Amino acid sequence: MKILNEPKELQRLAETIRLQEKRIGFVPTMGALHDGHLSLVKIAKQRADVVMVSVFVNPLQFGKNEDFERYPRPFERDVELARLAGADILFAPSAAALYGEGFQTFVEVREISKGFEGDVRPTHFRGVATVVLKLLNLAKPHVAVFGEKDAQQLALVRRMVADLNLDVEIVGAPIVREPDGLAMSSRNVYLSAEERREATILYRALQEAKRALESGERNPDALKRLVVATISSVPIATLDYAEIVCAEDFSPTPALQSGKTYFLILAARFGKTRLLDNLRFSL
Ligand code: PAF
Repeated sequence: MKILNEPKELQRLAETIRLQEKRIGFVPTMGALHDGHLSLVKIAKQRADVVMVSVFVNPLQFGKNEDFERYPRPFERDVELARLAGADILFAPSAAALYGEGFQTFVEVREISKGFEGDVRPTHFRGVATVVLKLLNLAKPHVAVFGEKDAQQLALVRRMVADLNLDVEIVGAPIVREPDGLAMSSRNVYLSAEERREATILYRALQEAKRALESGERNPDALKRLVVATISSVPIATLDYAEIVCAEDFSPTPALQSGKTYFLILAARFGKTRLLDNLRFSL
């Protein structure tokens, strides 16, 4: 596996790979790789000849009082995991290399950036859209794979790609869970033993909603009430939101329609750690 740090180097290599008529698969990450990320690499490998993984903790997508400084950065381990998963190229630029002097251009994806994560983290999606566009311009992938755990981010990336006519296929990959149901996340390491134990309530709440859907419940408010009641049975969990949104534009839905795909999204705090989870369903 080749490790590159310079944006220009990656862009030149991507150009060479394209000239050889090979397909490039790309997995952008912030490192602290876990099985969720490795599943994205596996999907990229199935769809491309050469797989690139980026490891970059993007300062632009963190708010002032967020966890940019303490975000885990086990770089050597990430290199080893990416190599074992079959990545061909790992791109790990410094912030100075990626955001050169005088940097002042940002990408704003208006509507999808509002609400949910956008309410709690007002500049987050501007940072995500900007870095993802830069990384796509450097890696020049035919296909890029993103996890469905960050469902709002995935919808935003799809919107940006459509709006800006980017020539890349965006693939969403299913959430990978721990054996007890907790969605894998690089931030799970922040949880205390008690928080880690109780955090499984998010998965259990989604499973309750899934069972209700399977039994014919079609009222979004009733489904949300079920999720809220289940999560409130754990005193150390503070729910930020639970909502049902249309998969493609992330708009909240007053009524479920057959033939459509939705996400039941939720975010909750356990101590200082915010966790996201969701259930994707079609009617
Ligand atoms: O999902 C992430 O890890 C990040 O938001 C991403 C897409 C790598 C952009 O920094």
